[in-house]
Amino acid sequence: MEFDSIKNVAMIGAGTMGAGMSWCFAQAGYHVCLYDVSQEQLEKANNRIDQIQKLFVEEKLITEKDASLARARVSFSSVLEESLHEVQYVLEAVPERLDLKQQLFQKFEACCPKDAILATNTSGLRITDIASACQIPGRVGGMHWANPAEIVPLVEVIRGEQTSDHTIDLIYQVTEKLGKMPVVVNKDILGFVSNRLQYAVLREALYLVETGVVSAQDVDRTLKCGVGFRYPWLGPLETADLGGLDVFHSISQYLFKELSTMSGPPESFSRLIREGKLGIKTGQGFYDHRGVSRDEILRRRDRYFIRQLKLIREIQSS
Ligand SMILES: NC(=O)c1ccc[n+]([C@@H]2O[C@H](COP(=O)([O-])OP(=O)(O)OC[C@H]3O[C@@H](n4cnc5c(N)ncnc54)[C@H](O)[C@@H]3O)[C@@H](O)[C@H]2O)c1
Repeated sequence: MEFDSIKNVAMIGAGTMGAGMSWCFAQAGYHVCLYDVSQEQLEKANNRIDQIQKLFVEEKLITEKDASLARARVSFSSVLEESLHEVQYVLEAVPERLDLKQQLFQKFEACCPKDAILATNTSGLRITDIASACQIPGRVGGMHWANPAEIVPLVEVIRGEQTSDHTIDLIYQVTEKLGKMPVVVNKDILGFVSNRLQYAVLREALYLVETGVVSAQDVDRTLKCGVGFRYPWLGPLETADLGGLDVFHSISQYLFKELSTMSGPPESFSRLIREGKLGIKTGQGFYDHRGVSRDEILRRRDRYFIRQLKLIREIQSS
């Protein structure tokens, strides 16, 4: 498979991730067939893509004409074989269950052209384990997006133990063509890179709240207004370079051993879950979200993220 031969994409799973990812492929000129076992999910994804299209036009991320052309490149199917017919690239986004993913990858092999790239959006399962069900594991690789897929720029390109260099190159090139920012993860480790970083911060944030050092609101404020304020522009290693490695070395000597090493699920999660507080799904979590609809919260988030995306693009192009 050559990069320029990739024209038709099958998106497998039309849930939270499938709709946004389909939009990104269509926007970049690919024809996308979105497949799901559930007709209801396909209808929801259809509506979701309409909303994304509207938002992107309103925010001037795409012209109305180009958005209509992109929209016309997305089709829907509830027949797996139909969605895989003559595709050069498959991206799987079904629930995070190894057996389900393995079964599907076997079907991809049976129905797709022999050289099609088979990618998975798994959050944490090993690519090697998913590919172990396949006869040609070299063409199986990770393509891990972040939610909301249509806005967040990062895509992790993950190498399973048997993924070929060519597959990694193709997933990388496709990611760039989508206007996303690829990062190659060279080892098939749990959580890849982004979730490991995210959960390292989450563990310490929960520890600080659970031990009464700071309130939930203030731990979030510390991240958003201090440490995290720098992150869109400076990663942690760039920050260390700017601050002086000698300074960071001294601090890490006494601070690393103080940090949380909690290895089980955090108590505050378990307690809130027992109380039926699952976050915006149920109206309460660490915060009280009652009185504002879930859709409204997500709409505000997306508008904010788009402003951030525009700023990042502006800075990168200057
Ligand atoms: N939601 C996130 O924030 C996020 C972020 C990055 C990666 N992921 C990963 O992406 C994948 C999908 O996550 P999601 O949040 O979109 O899940 P989801 O539950 O919202 O959607 C999954 C979809 O798969 C469909 N499905 C179930 N069995 C199927 C089958 N056999 N064939 C086809 N479709 C089937 C379901 O009907 C549903 O529409 C998971 O591996 C998840 O770990 C999720």
